Amino acid sequence: AMAAAGPSCLLALVFLAVLLPGGAPLLQASQTWTLLKVQQLLGRPPALRHWRRTTDFCGGGGTVAPSASVVCYGDTVTQLHIAGDAGGAPPLPLNFSLGALVTTLSRLPDLKVLTLSGLGLWGPLPGKLERLAGLEIVNMSRNYLYGPIPRGLSRLQGLQTLILDDNMIGGEVPGWVGTALPALAVLSLRNNSLAGTVPESLGRAPSLRSLVLASNNLSGNLPDMRGLASLQVLDVGGNSLGPAFPRLGRKVASVVLSRNKFTGGLPAAELSSFYLLEHLDVSLNRFVGPFPPALLSLPSLQYLSIAGNRFTGALSDKVPCGDNLRLVDLSSNLLMGSVPACLRPGGKPATVVLSSENCLDRGDGSQHPSPFCQNQALAVGIVPRHNEKKKVSRHAGFIAGIVMAVLVAVSLVGAMAFFAVKKMTMEGAKTRPSATLMEDHTSTSSAYPSKLFADARYISQTVKLGALGIPPYRSFSLVELEAATNNFANSCLLGQDSYGEMYLGKLSNGASVTIRSLKVKRNQSSQSFNRHIETISRLRHRHLVSALGHCFEYDLDDSTVTQLYLVFEYVQNGNLRSRISRKLSVLTEPKDG
Ligand SMILES: *[C@@H]1O[C@H](CO)[C@@H](O)[C@H](O)[C@H]1NC(C)=O
Ligand SMILES: *[C@@H]1O[C@H](CO)[C@@H](O)[C@H](O)[C@H]1NC(C)=O
Ligand SMILES: *[C@@H]1O[C@H](CO)[C@@H](O)[C@H](O)[C@H]1NC(C)=O
Ligand SMILES: *[C@@H]1O[C@H](CO)[C@@H](O)[C@H](O)[C@H]1NC(C)=O
Repeated sequence: AMAAAGPSCLLALVFLAVLLPGGAPLLQASQTWTLLKVQQLLGRPPALRHWRRTTDFCGGGGTVAPSASVVCYGDTVTQLHIAGDAGGAPPLPLNFSLGALVTTLSRLPDLKVLTLSGLGLWGPLPGKLERLAGLEIVNMSRNYLYGPIPRGLSRLQGLQTLILDDNMIGGEVPGWVGTALPALAVLSLRNNSLAGTVPESLGRAPSLRSLVLASNNLSGNLPDMRGLASLQVLDVGGNSLGPAFPRLGRKVASVVLSRNKFTGGLPAAELSSFYLLEHLDVSLNRFVGPFPPALLSLPSLQYLSIAGNRFTGALSDKVPCGDNLRLVDLSSNLLMGSVPACLRPGGKPATVVLSSENCLDRGDGSQHPSPFCQNQALAVGIVPRHNEKKKVSRHAGFIAGIVMAVLVAVSLVGAMAFFAVKKMTMEGAKTRPSATLMEDHTSTSSAYPSKLFADARYISQTVKLGALGIPPYRSFSLVELEAATNNFANSCLLGQDSYGEMYLGKLSNGASVTIRSLKVKRNQSSQSFNRHIETISRLRHRHLVSALGHCFEYDLDDSTVTQLYLVFEYVQNGNLRSRISRKLSVLTEPKDG
């Protein structure tokens, strides 16, 4: 009886559909069955509560706006949208199988658009997604998908949009994403667990319009994207990307680089050619150098945030603003001068401006205190406006002097340590340098023989400067400096120049220090430092900012020194300059010593 009832029921429905004026054709019976199977595999989610055997899917019966909808072309399903609660659903039970779901969906041969978001799907993305060969738009956000992006996806030649936000997808962004999917316009993988670098091939994706890789664990520089003529949206916030500002085409409209490790200056000339740029967020990075005020007058710009960097330079009343600015966040930088008139209340557009924690003339307590500004300003090599030009060059010379002197100092101390260690080794002495300081010193063929910079105890014994009341000079381990600066956190960065970066740190004994990182040129011999050997004692004079020690970072491949960190005492109270300027002559005119 049941077998007879089914077809006759269906016949009646077909008859009805034909009779109804303008009625949509009925969905193929096999596809109706497929949709009901999908409903069952998804654990009958609330979004699909109206789906029955009798539902007229193509006539709008399958649509429960906005959480579920079925779109047909003729008698075949082309679009299927099923969205759970915006907050997502708990994972489906253990008997759920993503593979079975995909297999079932593959029985909808004309499916072009598929949304399965917030439904509690879990499991690795199956490679057999490639069976859904007609897919153009896929949104499987807010589920519990894990594992890498499967190679099978590269066979979806019509794929235009792939959105897998808020999952747990791991591995790397596959290289084929840029080359194997000629139609790919939108790639959004926000809030997953992707690691590694962004592949170069993405810089060649011919149709890419929107690239969202925010909130992952990506590192390294972004590929050169100047060739992406259609790229409008780039959002890579919340990774460990950097250090170089990405190269972008001129048509970008939205660029979000916040919460990364970008450093150096902004490419002012390039940015000022981005005439379509509406949204630029470079906040919470390690950017340094002058803030280019021309950014404020970009014609399309609505939103600009440079907050939480180390931008310097003086703003003035007269800096012009674009007509479209709505929000400008300059907070937590080292800007001086005054907020441009066009950004103040009553300025042209109704712009929200945030500018606290700078060194601006605001007089409302929102700015850093003046000793901080002076200390910091000196640290990044800028000098408050009231200083004369003459002083500027002397200070600049002085900073360079410190750097040279300490390089010299370190090589001297290192050389002494080397001889001390060598002597000890030859004598077969029992007191050996501590293992932690020696562990990464492996090569003997490098330009910086590792033993040269060995143990702090020899250094402090050899350089008998304790009498000056300054903590003994010693070598620091990288781990120690990382702990002191919270892993070289942005919040500890004081500034940067062509030599390297400067951080504020706190040693485990509570002492505040500034840590200067210096990139070491390849092939630089230790002899090249040896010429100014005597300067060290002057540098460690009690009236000067004392060098407390150093640390070397080694290239893991050939054990050459790649980075040198110099640790200085941090002058907390008052003006660093006043303490050092008294002895300026010591360094600028060595004969006076
Ligand atoms: C999973 O098990 C439950 C009951 O234990 C059952 O109702 C459901 O249909 C099963 N789901 C699948 C996809 O087999
Ligand atoms: C993808 O799905 C999520 C969750 O339902 C939704 O918020 C988002 O707007 C969708 N994206 C697109 C482009 O449809
Ligand atoms: C990121 O994704 C996870 C699921 O992997 C989700 O629980 C979390 O709420 C998401 N975070 C945000 C900010 O949306
Ligand atoms: C990010 O990657 C680093 C290694 O590159 C790893 O140590 C760290 O645990 C990862 N973090 C997360 C949240 O996966």
